[in-house]
Amino acid sequence: MARPYIEFIQAQQLDWAKGLPGRAFDDVDARILSQDGETGAMSAILRYPPGWSRPGSHGLAATEELFVLDGALEIGGVTYQPHHYANLPPLYARQDARSPRGATVLTFFDRLPEKALPAAAGEWDLARVIPHVDVVAMPWEWVGADDPNLKHLGAGIKRLRRDPETGETSFLFCSGPHSRPLSGYGRQETHTVVEESFLLAGEIAGTGGLRRPGAYFWRPPLLRHGPFGTLTGTMSFIRAVGGRLEDTWTADEIAFDFAPKHQPFVPAELAEAAAKEWTPPRW
Ligand SMILES: [Fe+2]
Repeated sequence: MARPYIEFIQAQQLDWAKGLPGRAFDDVDARILSQDGETGAMSAILRYPPGWSRPGSHGLAATEELFVLDGALEIGGVTYQPHHYANLPPLYARQDARSPRGATVLTFFDRLPEKALPAAAGEWDLARVIPHVDVVAMPWEWVGADDPNLKHLGAGIKRLRRDPETGETSFLFCSGPHSRPLSGYGRQETHTVVEESFLLAGEIAGTGGLRRPGAYFWRPPLLRHGPFGTLTGTMSFIRAVGGRLEDTWTADEIAFDFAPKHQPFVPAELAEAAAKEWTPPRW
């Protein structure tokens, strides 16, 4: 079964489990955010324990897209610190991976992550490999200032990946504090592709309720969402899955509320975890 609509689940409400389907990560703990029952593709938070190591050369049958949330992960002599990014296509050779102090890593696989013999250097998909990006060092590209549907957000983007064939993208999206539709009402948007998001910082009010850091959604195509706003400002990791992400706006507007009702849309197996609003101590 393809992945169900999830909007949203706080990752903190999911249990840690040992390993991942595919058996290539039996030595880490994982919170699976969503998975495709047909292809084995999945999105997860992996927690590498302190002292984790995988000597020698190894590979995966899946593309591994990673973004470090906490700690540090080393692969092939490169250290991935918090908010460092990579996109490693199938059969990419990882050499002497380790995590002396442990790491928590937001990770996306495009099929079941099974072990595979790595290809010789340079024989993996060179058009798609992104070995290492220090995303903190990238400048924000400010967007939407001339768009009546976006200008209230004070929005910025850091573009991480665009697939050369499908147009699929991964990017960070930020918006400034005190952002909301200025009239109190806003249009809703739809896309023709899946939009997937993990909230890294700040709180954002809108479809499904109030999302806090760690909030995750997988939104299939053509579902209306928004309007959104934030008191604190926000930063999200966003992926478009299945093609280019373009906005189509409804003609009608609906009311925006900084304190929306908690009503997440989740499949039955997540209903209990998602039912209660996750409210960390504020002050
Ligand atoms: Fe959207």
